[in-house]
Amino acid sequence: MAMKALLVGAGGMGRAWGRNLVENEDVELVGWVDINAAAAAEAAEQLRLSSAFTGDDLSKAIAEVKPDFVVDVTIPEAHRDVTVTALKAGAPVLGEKPMAASMEQAREMVAASEASGKLYMVSQSRRYDARLHAYRQLIADRIGGSLGILNSDFYIGAHFGGFRDEMPSPLVLDMAIHTFDAARYLSGADPIAVYCEEFNPSWSWYKGDASATAIFEMTGGLRYTYRGSWCSEGAGTSWEGDWRAVGPHGTAVWDGEHAPSADVVLEAAGFHSKTEKVSSEIAPDYIGGIAGSLRDFIHALKTGETPMGECHDNIKSLQMVFGAMESARTGQRVRLD
Ligand SMILES: NC(=O)c1ccc[n+]([C@@H]2O[C@H](COP(=O)([O-])OP(=O)(O)OC[C@H]3O[C@@H](n4cnc5c(N)ncnc54)[C@H](O)[C@@H]3O)[C@@H](O)[C@H]2O)c1
Repeated sequence: MAMKALLVGAGGMGRAWGRNLVENEDVELVGWVDINAAAAAEAAEQLRLSSAFTGDDLSKAIAEVKPDFVVDVTIPEAHRDVTVTALKAGAPVLGEKPMAASMEQAREMVAASEASGKLYMVSQSRRYDARLHAYRQLIADRIGGSLGILNSDFYIGAHFGGFRDEMPSPLVLDMAIHTFDAARYLSGADPIAVYCEEFNPSWSWYKGDASATAIFEMTGGLRYTYRGSWCSEGAGTSWEGDWRAVGPHGTAVWDGEHAPSADVVLEAAGFHSKTEKVSSEIAPDYIGGIAGSLRDFIHALKTGETPMGECHDNIKSLQMVFGAMESARTGQRVRLD
């Protein structure tokens, strides 16, 4: 029998989630809530969900439709209230990134998951990417498990309009979470400390700092460096970033677009070691993006397995975000462990 989903948030991403839920054969979308009730009603109508509950009151919606789970696609500032309300009412939650607008709120959400005994997973959708998965495999199989160096560049000139133009730290809080999370996923390492500078170039069309450079000390001695900008016109990187991973047996690179590859040491002799180029295998049937995270979440609800993005794990990626912001604010290296 299909599981009943209640969706909260009917903005751009909420509508993408509406389609995602409707297209999943294990799910029935039974309700849609937004503080703008008309937006929820219109979004439901567009998907021809004539019998779905719509409105602006989450608690009422939960009481009415008794969902098997809630999907939170509201703005970051609302994630805590929506998630805690749903968990307290006994509904597992699949929420959009970033988990919360502060570490304090995020800890409250993790505590609410523990108190209710219900799963709270963050849909860190860019983890669900066949190429990222292949890159991780290539690093583990050919470069050596423990990386020493990991670099990523993210340069995109994005003219969004809306909340990102007004919020503080739009790059680090709204986007770098994906890249930081990918760094944890690729390396298997967790953050220990960060030094970061956030800045806003003179021509930036953002109110908050839209560029950043950060150095993370990670477990196992790894240094992960991040450089990025939302207001960099031209010669853009991909949305996944441009990566270099260096380990004991060589270097693996990925431009965030094409298949990742590696130069693997064959013979360590002479001035330059002899290396061979190795390409990666990309799984053709991999289900990516929010369709992938939804499948992972449903599988976890059915089996009790811990999915990627489970709140106790995802909060470590969020910690990289808030640690970087604190470092930028104070000018100090910030410990994260
Ligand atoms: N994974 C991705 O690649 C990706 C891409 C885009 C957005 N997102 C995330 O999705 C979330 C939503 O982004 P968006 O672009 O759809 O924003 P948006 O501003 O277009 O929509 C947000 C909606 O939430 C509603 N809302 C706000 N507070 C609410 C509350 N307390 N209760 C109910 N509804 C409330 C608003 O009325 C609005 O309709 C954000 O967390 C964003 O970071 C993720």
